[in-house]
Amino acid sequence: MTIHKLMVVGAGQMGCGIVQSSAASGLQVILYDITPARVQQGIANINENVLRDVVKGRRSKEEGEEIVGRISSCYNLEDGVGVDIVIEAISENGQLKEDLFSKLDSICAPNTILASNTSSLSITRLAAATKRPHKVIGMHFMNPVPRMPLVEIIRGLATSDETYTSVSELSRQLGKTPIESGDYPGFVSNRVLMPMINEAIFCVYEGVATPQSVDQMMKLGMNHPMGPLALADFIGLDTSLAIMEVLQQGFGDSKYRPCPLLRQYVHAGWLGRKSGRGFYIYE
Ligand SMILES: NC(=O)c1ccc[n+]([C@@H]2O[C@H](COP(=O)([O-])OP(=O)(O)OC[C@H]3O[C@@H](n4cnc5c(N)ncnc54)[C@H](O)[C@@H]3O)[C@@H](O)[C@H]2O)c1
Repeated sequence: MTIHKLMVVGAGQMGCGIVQSSAASGLQVILYDITPARVQQGIANINENVLRDVVKGRRSKEEGEEIVGRISSCYNLEDGVGVDIVIEAISENGQLKEDLFSKLDSICAPNTILASNTSSLSITRLAAATKRPHKVIGMHFMNPVPRMPLVEIIRGLATSDETYTSVSELSRQLGKTPIESGDYPGFVSNRVLMPMINEAIFCVYEGVATPQSVDQMMKLGMNHPMGPLALADFIGLDTSLAIMEVLQQGFGDSKYRPCPLLRQYVHAGWLGRKSGRGFYIYE
C-alpha cells in the first residue's frame, strides 16, 4: 500500500517535525492535538522553519508555499477518517496511548495503518488495544525529525509484512533510513542511549562533576556532538524519565532505576528546553 495522506496526532516537538518532513516529501498531512493551541503553535513553528529555509536559499519560495499548503490542522480526531496512516506522537504514557489507539481504531477506515512514535513502550500492547493488530507498528523518529536520518521500525507480534513494507517505504520517501528493532523496552536506540544519560545525571546528583563538565567530557573525549545533559534537556526530562521507568519495569533490573535528581526536576516542572529550564536555562 502506498501512502499519500497521513495524520499526525500530537503537536509537540516530534509531531511537528514529522508533519514538516512529510509535507516536504510531497505528502498531504493533517495535524491534531488534544490541546488546540498546540496545533496552532505547531503550525506557526513549522511555517517559520520553512520560511527560514526559503530565506537561506535552501528552498525556492514556490517550494516553501507548496510545503505549507500540504499541511492542514484539525480539532477532531474524526477528521482523520480517510487517511492512509496515523502517526501517533503524544506524550510517553502507555495508558494515554492505548486509549488513543482504541479510539483511532473505531474511527479510521479498516485499511488505515496506526503507527506509534513511542520511544520505549510495547507496540504489541498498543496493537492489542485495537481490532487491527496486523496494521499497528512502531515508527520511532529521531529528534529533530527534519535533520535526523534514522527511523527505528518496530513490529508488534501481529504486525503484517504488508504494514512493515508500507512503513519502510514511507520512511524512505521521507528521506530516512528505516532500521528494524525488536519489540522490547526502549527498543535499541533508547536502551543504549538512556542509561548513559541517566548515569550522567547521577554524576551531577552525586557531585562528581557539574553539568557543564560532564557534557564537555563527553563531547571532547568521546566525540559526541552534544553532551548527555544537553541532550536530555533537548529530548525533554519528562520523556527521559518515562523511558527510564519503562526500562526499569520492563526488565525488572535495578540498573535502570531513574536518578532521583531526574525525578525531582520533572516534579519541579523543569522539563528541559520545552519548559525553559532543565540542566541548563533557556531564554
Ligand atoms: N523528545 C524526543 O526527543 C523524542 C524522540 C523520539 C520519540 N519521542 C516520542 O515522541 C512522543 C512525543 O514526544 P514529544 O517530545 O513530541 O512530546 P511533547 O511533550 O513535546 O508533545 C506531546 C504532545 O502530545 C499532546 N497530547 C497529549 N495527550 C494527547 C492525546 N490524548 N491526544 C492528542 N494529543 C495529546 C500534548 O498536548 C503535546 O502537544 C513520545 O512518545 C516520545 O517518547 C520523543
